[in-house]
Amino acid sequence: TGLVTLDTGFVNTASCTSAITYIDGDAGILRYRGYPIDQLAERCSFLEVSYLLIYGELPSAAQLEDFSEKITRHTLLHEDLRRFFDAFPRNAHPMSVLSSAVSALSTFYEDSLDPFDAEHVELSTIRLIAKLPTIAAYAHKKSVGQPILYPDNSRGLVENFLRMTFGLPAEPYEADPLFVHALDVLFILHADHEQNCSTSTVRLVGSAEANLFASVSAGINALFGPAHGGANAAVLDMLVKIHESGDHVDTFVERVKDRSARVRLMGFGHRVYKNYDPRAAIVKKIADEIINQTGGDPLLDLAKQLEERALSDDYFIERKLYPNVDFYTGLIYRALGFPTRMSTVLFAIGRLPGWIAHWREMMNDPATKIGRPRQVYTGYPERDL
Ligand code: CMC
Repeated sequence: TGLVTLDTGFVNTASCTSAITYIDGDAGILRYRGYPIDQLAERCSFLEVSYLLIYGELPSAAQLEDFSEKITRHTLLHEDLRRFFDAFPRNAHPMSVLSSAVSALSTFYEDSLDPFDAEHVELSTIRLIAKLPTIAAYAHKKSVGQPILYPDNSRGLVENFLRMTFGLPAEPYEADPLFVHALDVLFILHADHEQNCSTSTVRLVGSAEANLFASVSAGINALFGPAHGGANAAVLDMLVKIHESGDHVDTFVERVKDRSARVRLMGFGHRVYKNYDPRAAIVKKIADEIINQTGGDPLLDLAKQLEERALSDDYFIERKLYPNVDFYTGLIYRALGFPTRMSTVLFAIGRLPGWIAHWREMMNDPATKIGRPRQVYTGYPERDL
């Protein structure tokens, strides 16, 4: 069977070729299809960036209109799928609800089952982008015991999502344009990050020729983990805990450095970035703007103190640990009114176009093989019963 190389965590193993996203972790560079992330965040909408990731080029005005009209037409959930939400327990974590509902989509759309049927893959792509915000808002409504709101298709994707999340049936709801813009930019910043854990999961599941909904549902479950997308919620939990304990940041940082305590500074460190995460820099600016606007948050001051303290400490300097995208995002979501548990759901909405782009790239690549890593066996040699 030849020589097998052990690479735990795939630190040095490329699993595919890809033309979607470029990262230079030492220089802190991130580009989608060649365009620097800061330019995209400043000048494009989330839908434009989704189109760019999935189809390879930014859309013309006509293409964008067509794309967004198609998405708008598919925001409703089948009534039977809506009824799933009644059956989940009230305290169900919205990430679990999200992955379950996305998995269930393939039961409603049998035409999604063949991953090589280009026309239906296109339809599944549109359905997924259109329905994920609706599913996410329903998951939230379920957890707070409020009635759901059907999508209002006269509104854009983010505005519609905010209304379905925070609106009430008998009351008019207008989203603050500043909030809509902030969320749109955050979705862009999360939209892709090459072969991260959830995207690799989507590819691995898809490599067995599983359908798009099944593959993305698996990606959502991978994202749920606190070492990955769940970190944004874990950062908030960490900040609340430090704040409530009244501990000094020094005490907490010392606890992190004492490895026996097994405490990590959540929202810090990255497999690829050994420099400031370019997304974190943009997120920090948005956090300042939004939290200023909403009257301040002692947790933001605490986060800044923690960052400053960590960045001047040898432990973090030697290991090149910087804030990652998750360090400040949860604080913004909190300022917008989302409960902590919704933070990772918001990450999932942002990451969706990246998952879809990678799944489609893989399906269209003749070099694709089923993902099937090898192992180094460490068990018993042959023995008799
Ligand atoms: N706090 C304290 N020490 C850390 C941290 C941290 N957040 N991150 C890494 N280290 C230490 C780690 O203990 C190790 O030290 P040593 O070499 O002495 O054993 C060294 O830094 C290298 O870390 P690693 O665990 O080998 O690095 P990795 O590439 O396997 O893990 C990571 C990357 C993101 C899982 C890790 O940095 C981490 O757990 N961070 C906290 C969770 C987090 O913020 N995750 C979000 C990742 S970014 C976006 C996303 O995917 O959501």
